[in-house]
Amino acid sequence: MKNTYLYVICMLLAVSCKKETTRATNVTSPNKVLKVAFGLNKEKQPFYLVKKEDKTVIDTSYLGFEFKNAKALKHGLKISSTKETTFNETWQMPWGEQLDVVNNYNELKVDLEEENEPNRKFSVVFKVYNDGIGFRYEFPKQQGVDEVLITEENTEFNLTEDYKTFWIPGDWDIYEHLYNTTSLSKIDAIAKADHVNLAQTSIPNNAVNTPVTMVGKDGTHLSFHEAALVDYSGMTLGVDTENLGLKSILVGSKRNDYKVKRKLPFNTPWRTIQITNNAPDLIESNLIVNLNEPNKLEDISWFKPMKYTGVWWEMHLGKSSWSYGMTKDEKGKWVDTGKAHGKHGATTENVKRFIDFSAKNNIKGVLVEGWNTGWEHWIGFEDREGVFDFVTPYPDYDLDEVVRYGKEKGVDIIMHHETSAATDTYTKQQDTAFALMKKHGIHSVKTGYVGKILPKGEFHHGQHMVNHYNNTVEKAAKYQVAINAHEPIKATGLRRTYPNTISREGLRGQEFNAWSSDGGNPPEHLPIVAFTRMLAGPIDFTPGIFNIKFDEYNKTNQVNTTLAQQLALYVVIYSPIQMAADLVEHYEANPTALQFIKDVGVDWIQTKVLNGEVGEYVTIAREERETNNWFLGAITDENARELTINFDFLEEGATYKATIYKDGENAHWDTNPLDLVVETKEVTNSTKMNLKLAAGGGVAMSIIKQ
Ligand code: NOJ
Ligand code: CA
Repeated sequence: MKNTYLYVICMLLAVSCKKETTRATNVTSPNKVLKVAFGLNKEKQPFYLVKKEDKTVIDTSYLGFEFKNAKALKHGLKISSTKETTFNETWQMPWGEQLDVVNNYNELKVDLEEENEPNRKFSVVFKVYNDGIGFRYEFPKQQGVDEVLITEENTEFNLTEDYKTFWIPGDWDIYEHLYNTTSLSKIDAIAKADHVNLAQTSIPNNAVNTPVTMVGKDGTHLSFHEAALVDYSGMTLGVDTENLGLKSILVGSKRNDYKVKRKLPFNTPWRTIQITNNAPDLIESNLIVNLNEPNKLEDISWFKPMKYTGVWWEMHLGKSSWSYGMTKDEKGKWVDTGKAHGKHGATTENVKRFIDFSAKNNIKGVLVEGWNTGWEHWIGFEDREGVFDFVTPYPDYDLDEVVRYGKEKGVDIIMHHETSAATDTYTKQQDTAFALMKKHGIHSVKTGYVGKILPKGEFHHGQHMVNHYNNTVEKAAKYQVAINAHEPIKATGLRRTYPNTISREGLRGQEFNAWSSDGGNPPEHLPIVAFTRMLAGPIDFTPGIFNIKFDEYNKTNQVNTTLAQQLALYVVIYSPIQMAADLVEHYEANPTALQFIKDVGVDWIQTKVLNGEVGEYVTIAREERETNNWFLGAITDENARELTINFDFLEEGATYKATIYKDGENAHWDTNPLDLVVETKEVTNSTKMNLKLAAGGGVAMSIIKQ
């Protein structure tokens, strides 16, 4: 058997075999298109490589670990056993882009052991799917090693082509960067480390954050990321621009001289490579969620996907403020000096206005930011611990009353916990804060982690914070609370295991358009995001800005899309909670466009990505659970374009009424963003339609079964 393996791998690896691989084995995807080969070189160092049919996608790439106070685990290994298994199941998403998810892979487990003392052992497990691969390291319980202090993981991904790459810098804190499009060999992350947000940024290497997506000359699409990031630190990918390689660089901590501390036994997160023939298939891939454990919460029926409005955009525009105008007394207690500045947004009255508007427009939630004491002292301060509390409202906000009023109107309040990254304060208060929510029947909270992480020396993506974010989700579940984190840990598919992980930021959201000194998100931003950040999981992007130029508040900023694109985002950018982010008065001024937000679904039975090219355009159609209505969104970058849509995804024999919200003849994201035309058409599954998208434009469509 071993000889057969060796023969097969030599066929796969003509060159590497000349480098004296001593043992080898391989595994293919269920459809046999992808092949992963594994072997040891003459120093007995493990390596793998990946082929897609005849193309070597990942060339000989070595694996290993470095530790504090222990010898590196790299060379001098032997394969003690190998095991291949096949797995095929269909599981259901409690909420999501689709209901049924096929999880079908071939697995290869390779057990490795040092040839000499201390004879340490670990395994490498590959799961090979039709849409890519995942592999992880498993450290079994063993004599002589109780705990490891990992200083670096040396996982390589060596590429064979200078791919067109869509990347953001390898930031240990924040994912709120504009994407860069360069060849792999031209990546210069350090030069792109500038940052216009409030959050901390640490970019020590020429590395990229994941997901990082690449397009090859033959149409091969690759995206590198990780799945099931639990009790480990996040992985950035260092770039070797000369040899076209990527290598893991774990996020560190200034408090420790190691990056990960784990007791044995443990498994690392999955290192993932989505591999497809085209861009749409990347979005349809379920690799990341499939590599996570099944639902541990079982019943999650207390969380309902929904649209929401909120006291939010008005603060970002400067119309109102989060703070009320309190000061601290000699004992450090927040007191109302009676000198409120009069611009506080989270007043009972204002929140009721949002509730009324939402109730009228089929929107089930209202987010209230700036409701609790502490906002006078939330950024730019070193001593942020103890500033916020998550149970004490400002004097002009009556929590009981807004909850009662909301219930009367069928609208839920969404809680807000801005921690200002003072994590000890938040951890200590979580039980009280979640208990308050439970008492009021509030089932979701938006959390925030703006600023440098406290304790000092930790980063948003280090092991300490990975555990903080994951513990918060687990604790919240006990109170039937769902989490939408801003300045979050990156999404790695844990929503499968903990479906109260509903959404998150982790990108440059809509807010950058309100105040960013670099002019906001350019029109290409979301056509890149759809094929990069969105592969990791749901995004709380907060779409739906109707007053695109908002000159009344700020003459230098604007949203850099057309109004039609703002509507299309409800379908294109997936999240089980979708904000209607603009001000009530801006919506009331445009009831025609508002109708789409009123109608659009948020929970889907299936998703079809109809076309797309990374960074250029994408069209997505989604079928709503319960109603079987379809909604479609198409968006483009700064280039106007025409797309032909085939409606063959519709049910055969059925007739639908399509209401089409499209860019007018003269629409343009900058010169004429509000030019919107709405028309209706009858469509069936044999309809083909040409859609014209303006520069920075889009099309939104509701397709209702007759
Ligand atoms: C940053 C978040 O992304 C934003 O949505 C929020 O309004 C502010 N922090 C305040 O918490
Ligand atoms: Ca943010």
